[in-house]
Amino acid sequence: MSQIASRVTSEADDRRQTSPTTASKTGSKLREMFAPIAAGLAKVETALQTNLRSDTPWVDQLLEHSWLLNGKRMRPVLLLLSGLAVKQQANAKFTVEDLPEELIPMAAAVEMIHTATLVHDDVIDKADMRRHEPTANSKWDNRISVLLGDYLFTHAFHIGSQSGSVEALALLAAASNKVCAGEMKQNFYSGRFDTSLELYYEIISEKTAELCAVACATGALLSQADQTGVNGFQQYGRDLGMAFQIIDDILDLVGDDDTVGKTLGTDLANGKPTLPIIHCLGRLSADEKNALLKMICDPRQLPQIIDTLNRTGSIQQARNVARSHIDSAMKFADSLGDTPAA
Ligand code: IPE
Ligand code: IPE
Ligand code: MG
Ligand code: MG
Repeated sequence: MSQIASRVTSEADDRRQTSPTTASKTGSKLREMFAPIAAGLAKVETALQTNLRSDTPWVDQLLEHSWLLNGKRMRPVLLLLSGLAVKQQANAKFTVEDLPEELIPMAAAVEMIHTATLVHDDVIDKADMRRHEPTANSKWDNRISVLLGDYLFTHAFHIGSQSGSVEALALLAAASNKVCAGEMKQNFYSGRFDTSLELYYEIISEKTAELCAVACATGALLSQADQTGVNGFQQYGRDLGMAFQIIDDILDLVGDDDTVGKTLGTDLANGKPTLPIIHCLGRLSADEKNALLKMICDPRQLPQIIDTLNRTGSIQQARNVARSHIDSAMKFADSLGDTPAA
């Protein structure tokens, strides 16, 4: 859990580099990090593939699109690691194979909700690449994406119910609701570059951190952690999710599409005020602010925008905020003791 936390901020640096050596180094680091839960992750993958099938060929083709696109599976990783960390606090020899089976459908459910949000998000952001492949909206169209996202959202609760825990399912439902509310708020405030930092943090907490938090909380809950334990894991997930979205927002400005594997530059193109921009606007004189606002939605002006962000130290400041969330997450992971999952 401490390794995954420290990866979130260094991810930004790796993702900007294009060398295949760096990419394979990143892959092997991830494999090393996931080693304690590899067998559980394989089961989650099987659960996703067997659940997302249909006897109707056309529906089957769409569902296949959603699981063939192999993401990082970060939320199932968080759920399984949290569950394992709880068990290893009592017995360091406990392995992922000994974990309650109920964690597997819940991990698949969280990943399905995440994929649903991405399918819908790519429609909203007009993005045409995701996980190095064409998005559903670019391969087919927006209507199909809306329907596919709906299917994934609803099917997540179907598979999640196989965990047999009403409490875990209630947490997942509440978190999914917040994710949607966060996306709705973001959409409502698009083009409003006078958005406050508080509102930005509220939006990213809902649209991204909430799902990471619920992955950790349900993993702990299904491993029979007590309420204080569940709360601790939930906060760890929330901190990680906050840092993750802040780094993602930085990459949207300064990352490389091919390395990251998705369409970047969509935040400014869609009028989304993110941390570096909000910070920068707060540092400029009235004239400079107007000049920045004039060029902000024009992708051709990106190099100049980046220059301004660098001049005001806004990219670095956003990194520092991400770092402070990672420090909190690491502190929690360290408090779990020296076990393989922690
Ligand atoms: C992308 O999440 C959406 C954000 C919250 C920034 P991931 O980067 O975890 O997406 P995949 O699942 O690996 O594609
Ligand atoms: C995260 O926001 C989307 C959701 C949490 C649904 P972004 O719009 O920044 O995610 P990417 O960059 O498209 O993956
Ligand atoms: Mg997007
Ligand atoms: Mg983004």
